[in-house]
Amino acid sequence: MIASNHNQSNPPDPSRPQAIKDAETTLGGSVVDSGINVDNPETMTRPIHPSPLDSFQVSHDADGLELEAQISLRRIAPRITQFWQQTETDDRLRDEFETRLIRHWSETFGLLHELYGTRYDFFYHLEQIILTAADAWVTRPESLRQVDRHREIEPDWFESEKVVGGALYVDLFSENLGRLREQIGYFQQLGLTYLHLMPLFAVRPGNNDGGYAISNYRSVDPRLGTIDDLRMLAEELRAVGITLVLDFVFNHTSDEHEWAKRAQSGDREYQQFYYIYPDRTEPDKYEHTLREIFPTVRRGNFTWHDGMEQWVWTTFNNFQWDLNYSNPAVFRAMLEEMFFIASTGIDILRFDAVAFIWKEMGTSCENLEGAHKIIQAFNRLVRIATPGVLFKSEAIVHPDDVVKYVGEDECQISYNPTLMALLWESLATRSTRLLNQSLSHRHNLPDGTAWVNYLRCHDDIGWTFDDADAAAIGINAYDHRNFLNHFYTGQFKGSFARGIPFQENIATGDMRIAGTLASLAGLELAIEKDDEAEKELAIGRMMLLQSITLSIGGIPLLYLGEEWGMLNDYDFVKDPAKAGDTRWVHRPKMKWEFLEELDDKIESGGGSIQRRIFEALQHLINVRKSQPALAGQQMELIKTDNTHLLGFVRMHQSHRLVVIANFADSLQSFSGNALRTAGMGRFFEDAITGQTFASSEDLHLKPYQTRWLCRV
Ligand code: GLC
Ligand code: GLC
Repeated sequence: MIASNHNQSNPPDPSRPQAIKDAETTLGGSVVDSGINVDNPETMTRPIHPSPLDSFQVSHDADGLELEAQISLRRIAPRITQFWQQTETDDRLRDEFETRLIRHWSETFGLLHELYGTRYDFFYHLEQIILTAADAWVTRPESLRQVDRHREIEPDWFESEKVVGGALYVDLFSENLGRLREQIGYFQQLGLTYLHLMPLFAVRPGNNDGGYAISNYRSVDPRLGTIDDLRMLAEELRAVGITLVLDFVFNHTSDEHEWAKRAQSGDREYQQFYYIYPDRTEPDKYEHTLREIFPTVRRGNFTWHDGMEQWVWTTFNNFQWDLNYSNPAVFRAMLEEMFFIASTGIDILRFDAVAFIWKEMGTSCENLEGAHKIIQAFNRLVRIATPGVLFKSEAIVHPDDVVKYVGEDECQISYNPTLMALLWESLATRSTRLLNQSLSHRHNLPDGTAWVNYLRCHDDIGWTFDDADAAAIGINAYDHRNFLNHFYTGQFKGSFARGIPFQENIATGDMRIAGTLASLAGLELAIEKDDEAEKELAIGRMMLLQSITLSIGGIPLLYLGEEWGMLNDYDFVKDPAKAGDTRWVHRPKMKWEFLEELDDKIESGGGSIQRRIFEALQHLINVRKSQPALAGQQMELIKTDNTHLLGFVRMHQSHRLVVIANFADSLQSFSGNALRTAGMGRFFEDAITGQTFASSEDLHLKPYQTRWLCRV
């Protein structure tokens, strides 16, 4: 129905949904507050069946903002009615939408009012936003509406132990979307039920920050395929129970996006889509309190644009222009892009760089209240228009801030960067003290939400643990981060890791770490030294970390390549578009020859290192899926009295599973009696190995071994 939705070559008119424009053309002029048009025969013959909005009344006891909310809804109602008529929407769809609109109205109104209520044109934008939502529901494919309906009944589907995720770059994994469809069997073989594709939309030429510099949210990068390929992939994945996750890169567009181009050509309306300044006065004032995110790209956060002769706010690369969300037109325009992405069949939207989307002078412009309000407003509108869709937060910030994005009314799931960093910390120190300290008060999340637990992703590792957590156990955070950077870049004596620095800040000495799971866990060095014992230890470390993310509570997320222990790829420096960004070292191309070996009839546990890692991981995933205790998020730490061990109990309904993990490269033991009191009774079994034990004896763990214990 909306032609522009399917049109790849013409970027859409950013300012208004097509269906609204159609309505205006037909009805003549701008449809402002016209109500039912008596001259329009269609309205006259409308079925008598009243819609939920028709019967909506301003309640007698409402006051303050609530009263304004209700009055506003009454004022908008005729516009919505008109929209249904224009789009010939049937009564069922209309009723479903209106019911949800009414249910979520006061919150939606409250959020938008807080964000934009002081604007003279607030009501105009409010109306446009609601019509954009109505348009998203009406144009949504019926198969996705079915998913919406289903998920409204089963909102906690993502908390199941059966959910296991994987992330990949389409080009590096399978060249393009068409070939990716042929690999669905591979995902099933590994046990994945959730697939995150790195950004695949049209990008600027040259460096595009791995797809994060988008120039058109409605067309796929032609090298990867088309929007129809994406739709087909989503459909085929859905048919086999795999959900699809795509980024919503909403903090910035590329400098080649239509809006940025209009801004460059001098269009003042589109200059307001970004943060653009004629001179350094404002930028300098902001800089006082801003961090530098990519200090090796440029100093500061602003980029001079030669054409416009103005400064542009660019938190990341110079070509990534931060969007100005204090402008409601930006919110609405991005809402439309978000709905478009969702309509291709996306189950989860990864909200990229959430921390940065709201700016206020005199602050760090990170994690501000406005950022939360924006995401909550998007969340409310999704509940109204495309309720099956979930949000995942990418906030790689202080743990106190990470958790603020997590909520049923904001992002239902979130990367868990604190756990990620502290697992690596424990591996380096062979001590779980800091991990324990952090987990003891940071793991629990509100109902209806979940962590996404990962070890590596396409980005760097930053040591984002809390300084106070470190101080509580006598660790100086600054020194410790230095140690970790030394350790993971292989400079610390005895280090097994082979990472490289990312965004080393010469001024502050700060850096983050790039490198693949296998290279950071010691496999690269062991292979270099051709040392069998070291190789065993490296595999042990990799499986140890996986066994935690697969069991601690939440969605485990593999970064594909991990399943083969892929090493750093130093060839990225040969590509000028990648050479300046060391994260490419851990974005290697898939080697399909690994897979061929799997079919050889080698007995399990034998064969190459790659095959062993794949099979070990596949096994762990299968075991996870067989353990209902691993559903949900509930986790209680067990006091192990051994700094090398991490112990916790997972509980779900009547199920219980105890995890004991050894972070040392030596044998460790754990008291059988302590396991008995942790609910294991007299006899129990390790679900990973199938071995059975009695609590009358102590439990032994080999170097880096994890046991998942359940009663027999
Ligand atoms: C996100 C992405 C990262 C990218 C940045 C800018 O943090 O994960 O890869 O560089 O946003 O888009
Ligand atoms: C973004 C990027 C990550 C970077 C972080 C800095 O979240 O994804 O690469 O480390 O910002 O705070």
